[in-house]
Amino acid sequence: MAIVETVNLKKVYLLGKVAIEALKGVSLKVKEGEFLSILGPSGSGKSTLLNLIGALDKPTSGKVFIEGVDVSILDDNGLAELRRRIGFVFQFFNLIPRFTALENVELPMAIAGLSKMERRKRAIELLEIVGLADRANHKPTELSGGEQQRVAIARALANNPRFLLMDEPTGNVDSKNADEIMRLVRHLNEEKGVTIIMVTHDQRLAKEANRTVYMLDGLIVDEVVNKP
Ligand SMILES: Nc1ncnc2c1ncn2[C@@H]1O[C@H](COP(=O)(O)OP(=O)(O)OP(=O)(O)O)[C@@H](O)[C@H]1O
Ligand SMILES: [Mg+2]
Repeated sequence: MAIVETVNLKKVYLLGKVAIEALKGVSLKVKEGEFLSILGPSGSGKSTLLNLIGALDKPTSGKVFIEGVDVSILDDNGLAELRRRIGFVFQFFNLIPRFTALENVELPMAIAGLSKMERRKRAIELLEIVGLADRANHKPTELSGGEQQRVAIARALANNPRFLLMDEPTGNVDSKNADEIMRLVRHLNEEKGVTIIMVTHDQRLAKEANRTVYMLDGLIVDEVVNKP
């Protein structure tokens, strides 16, 4: 079964009297354990698609199925529960400035109701995985862009997500940090079996995925298998 499936997904944004068709009918299936990259120019609808898959926004028409469940039938509790099982990495990190790296990673576990001791232990483990155990007590402003992004990845992993949605995870970091993050992403996919959907502008990074879909003007226009 596909872990993620979208069926003829459309999204129209209304700005006053102007309607912007951000997605014009996107059908996509992602298999469990797959690493998929989404490549396409600015404005082609990549973030819109990712937000709909992550149930952060609702489509105008069409459907999203997560592990076979039609997301549109879920109530607020069901949606909150679903979002806890999805790891989301945003382009601009979205870390909480007054929290340390450790506290940022602990936050989703606090929301999920883990005890203080459990979440501290797991947050330290996660910071070790992303190579930042020695920065646990730094606030975001005291970290480089690449380090902040790695904290954001650790936070996305906090609740053991079955799949990870990443919007330009290397978009705001230099090439050395981008390579570091890609190593981590591959490790999560290959060693931990996490299903990954990654949006990127970068052709070179897109090729690291099993499969790449190309978006243009609200549609998937091409698809390439990099490594089966
Ligand atoms: N909240 C919104 N309200 C109105 N229009 C929006 C909104 N979000 C996105 N759009 C429009 O929808 C289209 C698709 O935007 P989207 O953010 O999905 O593109 P993208 O492929 O992620 O681009 P980028 O590579 O620049 O991040 C664009 O024309 C954009 O201007
Ligand atoms: Mg975007």
